[in-house]
Amino acid sequence: MIEVVNVNKTFGEKHVLKDINATFDEGKVNMIIGRSGSGKTVLLKNIVGLVTPETGEIYFNGREFVNVDEKGKREIRKEMGMVFQGSALFTSNNVEENVMLPLDLFTKMTKAEKQKRVDFCLDRVGIVNAHHSFPSEISGGMQKRVAIARAIALNPRYLFCDEPNSGLDPQTSILIDQLIKEITVEYNITTIVNTHDMNSIMEIGDNICFIYQGNKWWQGSKDDIFTTDNAELNDFVFASNLYKKIKKAHNDE
Ligand SMILES: Nc1ncnc2c1ncn2[C@@H]1O[C@H](COP(=O)(O)OP(=O)(O)OP(=O)(O)O)[C@@H](O)[C@H]1O
Ligand SMILES: [Mg+2]
Repeated sequence: MIEVVNVNKTFGEKHVLKDINATFDEGKVNMIIGRSGSGKTVLLKNIVGLVTPETGEIYFNGREFVNVDEKGKREIRKEMGMVFQGSALFTSNNVEENVMLPLDLFTKMTKAEKQKRVDFCLDRVGIVNAHHSFPSEISGGMQKRVAIARAIALNPRYLFCDEPNSGLDPQTSILIDQLIKEITVEYNITTIVNTHDMNSIMEIGDNICFIYQGNKWWQGSKDDIFTTDNAELNDFVFASNLYKKIKKAHNDE
């Protein structure tokens, strides 16, 4: 479980995160949703420690992360896996080397042990015959799979994905979403996914945190979305006619 308590972040004059309080559950796909520019990425960067908030605390299963010393930070960081916007694979390393990287950096495993773990992770995300391909030689969907394989290489307790579906077609997006969901449940990971993709929210969102202009505006389940009278959330979710129709059908049932 991750608990964010009274987190404030400003950049110069700009107050980007306004006293955020939120909890993210274990074994669940927690989602941070909101319009472009609302503060989702900045919130995720605070949670993983890439950005430090001016005030606030963040607890990882009870362990405070923001105000702890470097050693304490390292302990918690070792338990995090990340998939960032655009995959961020190393272009001059092949698929296998990309997944092995965290094992090279953070473990004392032997070459054979590392190879076994890499094979396992690539197998788990459904990559079979591309171990020696370079990122530029595989599709965007496969790149996401490799990024997920790399993120789970160290058996993380916490998994963070920033817009994992950006640039993917709807069918491939669903496959990636399902993969994130399966891995989360299988290994009881506290997963946080940033998205503004309505399909993802409806497919895999267990616990949804809506950010509006830097405020935590609403939190609930995907079923709660259909019945909420929160005006800004309704405007965000039901902006398209398709989702207006889906909401009507859902509420008429
Ligand atoms: N390093 C920075 N310096 C100054 N302003 C920043 C910085 N990082 C983010 N911001 C500002 O913070 C606000 C929130 O940005 P953020 O990237 O978190 O939005 P987002 O919700 O992730 O949007 P998107 O859906 O487009 O990814 C934006 O106004 C952005 O310009
Ligand atoms: Mg973002």
